[in-house]
This record gives sequence, structure tokens and C-alpha cells, in this order.
Amino acid sequence: MPTTPSTFPSAVSRRAFLGSVAATAGAAASGLVSETVGAHPAADDAGTGKGPPPTITLSLRINGEKHSLTVESRVTLLDALRDHVGLVGTKKGCDRGQCGACTVLVNDRRINACLTLAVMHEGDDIRTVEGLSNDASLSPLQQAFIRHDAFQCGFCTPGQLCSATALIGELQRGEPSHVSANVRAAGSIAVNSDEIRERMSGNLCRCGAYPNIVAAIAEVVAKERA
Ligand code: FES
Ligand code: FES
Repeated sequence: MPTTPSTFPSAVSRRAFLGSVAATAGAAASGLVSETVGAHPAADDAGTGKGPPPTITLSLRINGEKHSLTVESRVTLLDALRDHVGLVGTKKGCDRGQCGACTVLVNDRRINACLTLAVMHEGDDIRTVEGLSNDASLSPLQQAFIRHDAFQCGFCTPGQLCSATALIGELQRGEPSHVSANVRAAGSIAVNSDEIRERMSGNLCRCGAYPNIVAAIAEVVAKERA
């Protein structure tokens, strides 16, 4: 008479197993699982379970103009610019400080707008790519980017331009970078490709237009110093 191998589940244990699977499936189909999902706080109440987060009315000075907006206190400067002021030149790439697409100038310093809250910038002088040109003519950097074909898709370009604008200011102030040969030689930093690449390293270009971006910036820096 054939015997059941010891590793093979008996008919009873198979029935018990199938029964437990059926019970789990039944729970999923019933309100049990949805009740568990529903127990998580809704995404739009900031996880507090106490309704939507508070809003705040603030005044931002952007490209020389005052803008009054009412935003949730958690809104980033990037989202405020794009979604509340309508300045969509500033791009959202990673939204976590890795790509530099959202670079803007705040009091002439470059920052990632995705990493800072709008409420922190009342009273600051904010400049976006829309504010780089003067009197309806493109800035020297913008013109150089065109001359050197320093972009392909253009998605990173607003951030690159804001970053490069700040770079020129840093050089004018004599601020050294990690690759400056002499960090004490304020005001006389030698500008070469390494210096520009280091200073622009926070701005990624997935099209790989780096050589042309560096050439455009080098040209403007050389003209500034002539
Ligand atoms: S979107 Fe801000 S660094 Fe990428
Ligand atoms: S030009 Fe396309 S990402 Fe830089």
C-alpha cells in the first residue's frame, strides 16, 4: 500500500492551508483591507489627521516685482514660483536637491528652490531666469549660451543660467572654490575649465552639453576680466 511521503502535505493540512488562503482573500475583498488602507492619513493633510495644513499670506519680491500669495506653509519656493506666480521658467527636475534645474538667485546667491520654503523668503530679492535679461535684451550669458549652442533640450538651461550668473558674481567677489589653486588669493582666482566645472557641478545636464556650457561661461568671464 503506497504511503504519503513525509514532505508532502497531508490532505488535511492541504485543506487547512487552502482554507487560510481563502480567508485572507476574503478579508482583502471585504472592507477589512480597505479599512486598514483608509486608516492611513490622507496625503493632503500632511499626516496630521487634523485636516489641511494652514495657509499663510506672504509677499515675495521676484524679478523686481512684488507678488502677494496665499500658500500652505509647506509650499517650496519652487512650487510657489511655478504654481502660484506662474513663472514656469524655473524647472522641477528631481525636487530633492540633486539636479540643479530649479536654481534661482536669492540676494544674488544661487539656491535650489526645491529645497527651501517660500515662507522663508519674504523680504528677499529673488531672481529667476525670467529676470536675467535687462531692458528686453538677453544677458551676456544668455547670448553666449546661444552662440555656443550650450543646450539641447533646454530643460536644465534656466538653472544653468542662474547658476552661471551667480558664478560670475562669486568670481567678482574673489570667492574661491574647492579647486582654486590659492584660496587666499582673493580677487585673482585663475579661471579655467576646472574652476568653471567645479562651480557648475551642482547643475546636471542629461543632454551632456557640458563642453558648450563651459565654453559659453568662459567667454563671458574672459570678457568681464578684459
Ligand atoms: S529640482 Fe531642485 S535640485 Fe532638482
Ligand atoms: S540641455 Fe537637455 S538637460 Fe541640459
